[in-house]
Amino acid sequence: MSTRVISNIGELTTNDPTLGDQSLMGRLSDAAIVLDEQRVLWVGPSREAPDADDYLDARGRAVVPGFVDSHTHLVFAGERSREFEARMAGERYDGGGIALTVNATRAASTSQLREATSRRARELRASGVTTMEIKSGYELNVSGEARLVELAAEFTDEVTFLGAHVVPEEFAHDRDAYVELVAGEMLGSCKDHARWADVFCDRGAFSVDESREVLLAARGAGLELRLHGNQLGETGGIRLAIELDAASVDHCTFVSDSDIALLAGSPTVATLLPGADFCTRSRYPSARRMLDAGVTVAIATDCNPGSSYVTSMGFIIALAVREMAMTPDEALWAATLGGARALRRDDIGRLGPGARADLLILDAPRAAHLAYRPGSSLVAETLRAAR
Ligand code: NIG
Ligand code: FE
Repeated sequence: MSTRVISNIGELTTNDPTLGDQSLMGRLSDAAIVLDEQRVLWVGPSREAPDADDYLDARGRAVVPGFVDSHTHLVFAGERSREFEARMAGERYDGGGIALTVNATRAASTSQLREATSRRARELRASGVTTMEIKSGYELNVSGEARLVELAAEFTDEVTFLGAHVVPEEFAHDRDAYVELVAGEMLGSCKDHARWADVFCDRGAFSVDESREVLLAARGAGLELRLHGNQLGETGGIRLAIELDAASVDHCTFVSDSDIALLAGSPTVATLLPGADFCTRSRYPSARRMLDAGVTVAIATDCNPGSSYVTSMGFIIALAVREMAMTPDEALWAATLGGARALRRDDIGRLGPGARADLLILDAPRAAHLAYRPGSSLVAETLRAAR
């Protein structure tokens, strides 16, 4: 097995508190990292780096773990810029536009959808994403949702079945029948291509009881759980996610003190999606209060055509810092190891020995530049599994 050393790293962030300065960021300066064809073998000072088959000089630049984008809706057709314009003119986001994307997605051929998804996945990777989660949720019928999870599985192992995104128009007068369909036949046709199940538990989407019904059926079918909660109001989604031991509850824009206390005492990660709050001109979640209370926080793009057509993790980090009072280090951690926790993965999001060699060489001497220089593309090189 061939090995490679990257040396002369100005600032190396490992997210491994046993390394370097022993902080949460596990930081080293003037560092080197040795990789085999898959994983990290060794981390330490540049001058102590062991020999390897191949050598890369980082020339003083910063190295960080690859970003883990734990929340995207990449598989869709069409666009909703008119809805965005209306919002910027004062209209409120209520998820009503999802129906438009459902119509466009149902009408698209599989090769059109594959091509559009691939374009967006490329954009995410260019921003430094080395692991992405992808949800279904824009066909909302049995064969369509199965098509979307199968397509998503072409791009990632982290596929999420989101048949319960909203109630489609044809079931508007019989919600119970739709919930039954999602929890029954639709789940059956999707479960073999998905690891996760998700529900949009919010105003205008699904109630706590409906969400619980779908999630319990999904768990019974062998899927693991995550949840869209508290994006549009204090609707009980956070409490449901904790009750069901979901890996993550996502958005958390409207959060009470008791929600925060419950989150802090649970293994459920709060995944914050500041791109959605930005693009819907919403308030932002209280990241500061959550972090101070000890909640595990992740941040993700939520890339979707309605609330957050964002494919840059750098931009999400900048928003988390500027708008949610996270420090640049907290935002970097949330975009890497936080995302890994939200996906219940321990092989990614960090760069200690044994971790998958997913790393970014930045065009900057320090990782803080990710927040300090919003809008710049600072990812000079990306390695995924050492390639
Ligand atoms: O995470 N909130 C629900 N789902 C997406 C938005 C979907 C859409 O508007 O198309 C979200 O924000
Ligand atoms: Fe979402």
